[in-house]
Amino acid sequence: MPFDATPAPLIDGFGRSVTYLRLSVTDRCDLRCTYCMAEKMCFLPKRDLLSLEELARLSELFIRHGVRKLRITGGEPLVRRDVMDLLADLSRRLDSGALDELTLTTNGTLLERHAERLARCGVKRVNVSLDTLDADRYRAITRLGDISRVLAGIDAARAAGLRVKLNAVASRGAFEDELDELIRFAHGRGMDLTLIEEMPLGETGQDRSRSVLSLRDLQADLSRRWTLTPSRRSSGGPARYMTVAETGGRLGFISPMSCNFCALCNRVRVSCTGRLYTCMGDEASVDLRGPLRRSDEEAMEAIRQAIAEKPERHQFDMNDMSRPAVSRHMSALGG
Ligand code: 5AD
Ligand code: SF4
Repeated sequence: MPFDATPAPLIDGFGRSVTYLRLSVTDRCDLRCTYCMAEKMCFLPKRDLLSLEELARLSELFIRHGVRKLRITGGEPLVRRDVMDLLADLSRRLDSGALDELTLTTNGTLLERHAERLARCGVKRVNVSLDTLDADRYRAITRLGDISRVLAGIDAARAAGLRVKLNAVASRGAFEDELDELIRFAHGRGMDLTLIEEMPLGETGQDRSRSVLSLRDLQADLSRRWTLTPSRRSSGGPARYMTVAETGGRLGFISPMSCNFCALCNRVRVSCTGRLYTCMGDEASVDLRGPLRRSDEEAMEAIRQAIAEKPERHQFDMNDMSRPAVSRHMSALGG
C-alpha cells in the first residue's frame, strides 16, 4: 500500500485530535522582551535550522494527516530571510483547500515591509505582540524596540486587509494602569486584544514572582469599569473571549496559570531545529529532523509516537514563579 493511501488523523492518548501546528522558523529575534529572553542570548547557529524545503515537507506531512491550521512563529519569524518563500509555498495548500488557515505571530517590527506580501500569500490574520502604547515602556520591556515601527506595521497590515489581533503579556504595575488605553486603541481599530498570563519559561534574569499577574484578578478589576460578557465566538484555542459592551470589541484571556485549558488542546509545536513539542509546559520533545532526513515514513512514525504520548496537561504552578518550570525560552517556540 502506498504510504499515504489512507492518512490517519493524529489523535493523542486522551482522544484529542491534533489539527493545529505552530511552526517556528527561527529562534532569533530583533527584540529581547524581559519576560521572554535574557538580555544576552545565545542563538543557534544557522546550520542547525531546518531548511526551507524541510519546513515545507514537514508542514506537508502534518497537513496530510489532518492539520488544518498552521501558524508560523519564531523567535521573530520575519527576521528569517526566506520565510516569505515558505509562506508562498504553503499558500498553495490554502488554495487547494487542504489548509483552512495560515497565520503568523510577529512582534510587528518588520511588518510594514511584509504586510502586502503576507496578504498575497493568503494570510488573513496576524497576531502582533504589543504590551504598551508608551514608547519608553515599550523600549524598557523589549530592551531594543522602537514602538513607531510596530505601529506602522499594524497600520500596514490593516491597510493590506489583514485582521490584526494584539497580544499583550500582563504584568503587575504599569500595565494595569495602561490597559484601558490599550483596549480603546485595539477596539477603536477593529482589533481583538488578548491578554496573556506570563509563563515560567526559560531564565530571563528577572524574578517572575514579582511581575506575574493573575488574569482572574485583572478581569475582576476590569469588570468594575467595563461591561464584559462572554463572547459566543470562540477562537477554538485557549483564549476565553469577552465582549466589551462600551467598545463592541473583543477581549481575550489566555490564563494558563490561573485557569487550565489543556483538556481542549488541539495543537503541537515544532521548533526551528525540527524538534516536536506536544506541550508547551513540558520539557519533553522529540527530534524530527533526523527521521525527516531519512524518509517521510520515519518522520511520520516519530510524529505519531510523540503525539500518542502528549501530556494531559502542563505542570506550571502559579505559586512557584521564582524559577522556570521549563528551561526553554518562549522564543524557542514562539508561543
Ligand atoms: N509568558 C507568556 N507569554 C510570553 N510571550 C513571550 N514570553 C512569554 C512568557 N514567558 C509572548 C509574547 C508574544 C507571544 C509569542 O508570547 O509577548 O505575544
Ligand atoms: Fe522577541 Fe517575541 Fe520574545 Fe519579545 S516575546 S523577545 S518579540 S520572541
